[in-house]
Amino acid sequence: MDTKINIAIDGHSSCGKGTLAKNIAKELGYLFIDSGAMYRAVTLYLLNEGISLEELNDDPAILGNIKIDFVLNPEKKFFETYLNQVNVEHEIRNMRVSKYVSPVSTLKVVRDFLVKKQQEIGQNKGVVMDGRDIGSVVFPDAELKLFITASLKERTLRRFSDLKNVSMEEIERNLDQRDYDDSNREENPLVQSKDAILIDNTNLSKKEQLELILGYCNKVILG
Ligand code: DC
Repeated sequence: MDTKINIAIDGHSSCGKGTLAKNIAKELGYLFIDSGAMYRAVTLYLLNEGISLEELNDDPAILGNIKIDFVLNPEKKFFETYLNQVNVEHEIRNMRVSKYVSPVSTLKVVRDFLVKKQQEIGQNKGVVMDGRDIGSVVFPDAELKLFITASLKERTLRRFSDLKNVSMEEIERNLDQRDYDDSNREENPLVQSKDAILIDNTNLSKKEQLELILGYCNKVILG
């Protein structure tokens, strides 16, 4: 019957897992949460306030000043990220934030703060969350775990078509560095959980991926 599950989607930067997660949530009528947007929102806050990583580490109570919400845009029909009541959906995707987000996301105080929020969101099930540690740390009991990847070249090309005024070389360097940082940090590194299904989407269209994954979802939901 209508059993709600949590779906954890992890993988490398810019492999399209956000769009995928968003579409799966739409098809199932589930809530989509972009956990990367939460790390980006914290990063933007620190940049705007001029707060260094050391200062934050020494005074984690600073995080109490950060309120992150996902608000439905009725025209676009998807949720946008708000930082302290301001729509930051576009700003959090720029290179200034992209360059600083990996070091910010290595901090234990930041991870503890955001993981707790993410677990609260997931407690009633019916959530599709994408990130790096969703299957391993945030929802270790998720009924369905997916690990998405694509070649670095393909990911660079996809990101290049989304961004303006940034060279292909700069994008490739940033992705390569983030892959390294995400996989090698001490706190909650990017890992494929043993029970996650691996999907390399280098040669798959968005439609093909969605169909493949909805098949997995239905198998779990319908038993
Ligand atoms: O998914 P994204 O590229 O928007 O994520 C931005 C950064 O946030 C990424 O470099 C790693 C970090 N991140 C993380 O450490 N853990 C998550 N669950 C999600 C993102």
